[in-house]
Amino acid sequence: MSLKLKNKKIIISAGASGIGWTTTKECLKNGATVFICDVNKKFINKSKKHPLSNKKLFSYECDASHEKEVSNFFTKILKKTKKVDALINNVGIAGPTGTLEKLKSKDWEQTLKINVISHFYFSKLAIPMLKKNKGGSIINLSSTAGIHGFPLRSPYAASKWAVVGVTKTLAMELGKFKIRVNAICPGTIKGDRMNRVISAKAKFLKVPKKFVEKEYISMTSMNTWIYEEDIAKTCGYLISDDASRVSGQIISVDGNTFRMD
Ligand SMILES: NC(=O)c1ccc[n+]([C@@H]2O[C@H](COP(=O)([O-])OP(=O)(O)OC[C@H]3O[C@@H](n4cnc5c(N)ncnc54)[C@H](O)[C@@H]3O)[C@@H](O)[C@H]2O)c1
Repeated sequence: MSLKLKNKKIIISAGASGIGWTTTKECLKNGATVFICDVNKKFINKSKKHPLSNKKLFSYECDASHEKEVSNFFTKILKKTKKVDALINNVGIAGPTGTLEKLKSKDWEQTLKINVISHFYFSKLAIPMLKKNKGGSIINLSSTAGIHGFPLRSPYAASKWAVVGVTKTLAMELGKFKIRVNAICPGTIKGDRMNRVISAKAKFLKVPKKFVEKEYISMTSMNTWIYEEDIAKTCGYLISDDASRVSGQIISVDGNTFRMD
């Protein structure tokens, strides 16, 4: 077994399913101790029973978009450790699908609240712990929608471009503390969330789901879906000492997505 992340302590928001959970398992397999939160109690309970969790995984229920709940999550972490090696700002929702003039303000606000402002809550509390550690890594989950325009998903695109802006800025603010800040931009991940997104787009366009699915893949040079493991492994690399001089980078893991329409 490779132990690339041995003794590293890692915090992951929305870590109990999807990309977050696959990344949690990758970190545990590589020897790390992981602190996750998730708004979904069922997923949290399931994570606690996983064989890999054995004294190395600490899972807590928390809504990432509520500052007080995030602060309570950190209070629990601080009882176990004062220093951390990495924070993965993974939380993010797909937001609504539709042309801008038809979208509701509350959906716009909720998308920005969860995808951008919650990252601020976590980073603000993790930075002192990373400084205490004398360095470390922050990884922000953006998206190919943080690099291209994304018709019918304007709040999501706005939120993911914002994540890129924060990443570039934080990397500059924190470089002198040996804290590296990078963003990962996943392409279309095979899984539940994209099933929901594709269903919503097919419904909006009044076309079959299969048609939308094929369209998504055709937007990548490699004609491929992306898998949660691809993102988990990139996180593992960015946290590891192999990436000790990689900072301020916006890393696409997307089979080279060249359009998103
Ligand atoms: N899935 C994709 O195709 C894709 C593509 C590009 C970028 N991303 C980004 O990657 C990240 C993870 O995506 P995913 O597909 O695994 O997500 P997902 O929709 O599968 O959700 C993962 C977890 O987030 C939790 N969650 C949702 N709202 C929360 C909140 N307010 N507080 C705490 N937990 C909350 C859910 O309970 C769930 O366990 C997101 O930032 C997403 O925007 C995903």
